[in-house]
Amino acid sequence: MNYNKKTISDIDVNGKKVLLRCDFNVPQDKETGAITDDKRIRAALPTIRYLLEHNAAVIACSHLGKPKGEWKEKLTLAPVAKRLSELLGQDVIFAKDIIGEDATAKAAALQGGQIMLLENLRFDIREEKNDPAFAKALADMAELYVSDAFGTVHRAHASTAGVAAYLPAVSGLLIQKELEIMGGALENPKRPFVAVLGGAKVSDKINVINNLLEKADTIIIGGGMAYTFIKAQGGNIGTSLLEEDKIGYAKDMIAKAKEKGVQLLLPVDTLAAKEFSKDAEPVCVESMSIPDDMMGMDIGPKTCEEFAAAVKGAGTIVWNGPMGVFEFPAFAQGTKAMAKALAESGAVTIIGGGDSAAAVEQLGYADQITHISTGGGASLEFLEGKELPGVACLLDK
Ligand code: 3PG
Repeated sequence: MNYNKKTISDIDVNGKKVLLRCDFNVPQDKETGAITDDKRIRAALPTIRYLLEHNAAVIACSHLGKPKGEWKEKLTLAPVAKRLSELLGQDVIFAKDIIGEDATAKAAALQGGQIMLLENLRFDIREEKNDPAFAKALADMAELYVSDAFGTVHRAHASTAGVAAYLPAVSGLLIQKELEIMGGALENPKRPFVAVLGGAKVSDKINVINNLLEKADTIIIGGGMAYTFIKAQGGNIGTSLLEEDKIGYAKDMIAKAKEKGVQLLLPVDTLAAKEFSKDAEPVCVESMSIPDDMMGMDIGPKTCEEFAAAVKGAGTIVWNGPMGVFEFPAFAQGTKAMAKALAESGAVTIIGGGDSAAAVEQLGYADQITHISTGGGASLEFLEGKELPGVACLLDK
């Protein structure tokens, strides 16, 4: 995968109409629709400001949620336009449609230094189908395409990939930063390179583990997925999460790590409980012998120490997936210990989006981390080493 892509600073945007794909897929309050976290809108500001300051006319677009081609009032981008306008300190013209009369008229009248936002792209089913006519209609409003939607680069949709067939396509500053930092960590990491992987399922991380076994010096496995690995080593995991059909895979990975000289660390102790509940009583047990009526919910204190020691002195650390059920305070210790260890490591620290990003933010360590990716699924596919359609479609440098 070539990460060396042209960006907005490599082309002349002065006076040009720019179709700017952002990822404004922000979390909203279920009742009121209020935006509960505007991080993704803020993350797009450097590119938007650059374009406006360089006299481009910006036609911004994004998806929100999964309306699957239906016009759903709850998923309108109008609140995003309002929030963006507050953050930019300038009017954001909002189009009532995507490629319809309102959008095309507003785009045609848009001047350099002005910005508009199209309505939710996924209100039209042709967006997710990467329909060429829909992509062309989007492209026809503009002269250049800039993608800054890192969170959506793993999708081959009309606005994330298809449109690049009709316009010169370059990256915005957010994608550039994500590619530089995460690409740099994978291609040329400062060593030792430690990968910390957690989350519920082994099946979600298979390709990440495969890819990182080729690159990392140490792989730390925690979270729900660790129990399948412990079972693969002959441990008793009680009622903990188990993917029976992945035991063979876990065995192979343990063997592959040995063969490649990669240190693979699993929890040695576990906070277990009798029920999956926030009020459950945590009991510390050995990971290899979890009682039959108990399930592992977090890594134990000894494991926290061992994992923290393993990241100490690292050059690069990539973390994806929490160490335990961190939404329950009694089982958030492992994730917290890991966040603290990363924050204090002095290494280049990268959080691969999703739950681990939320955990680091919630636990108050965000500002001590080098880079928290704005991608969830996109970061995961990046760590898998997959070709990302939203990056592949951009012009090479
Ligand atoms: C995300 O939230 O990860 C991106 O916006 C992509 O959204 P999607 O999974 O609905 O395509």
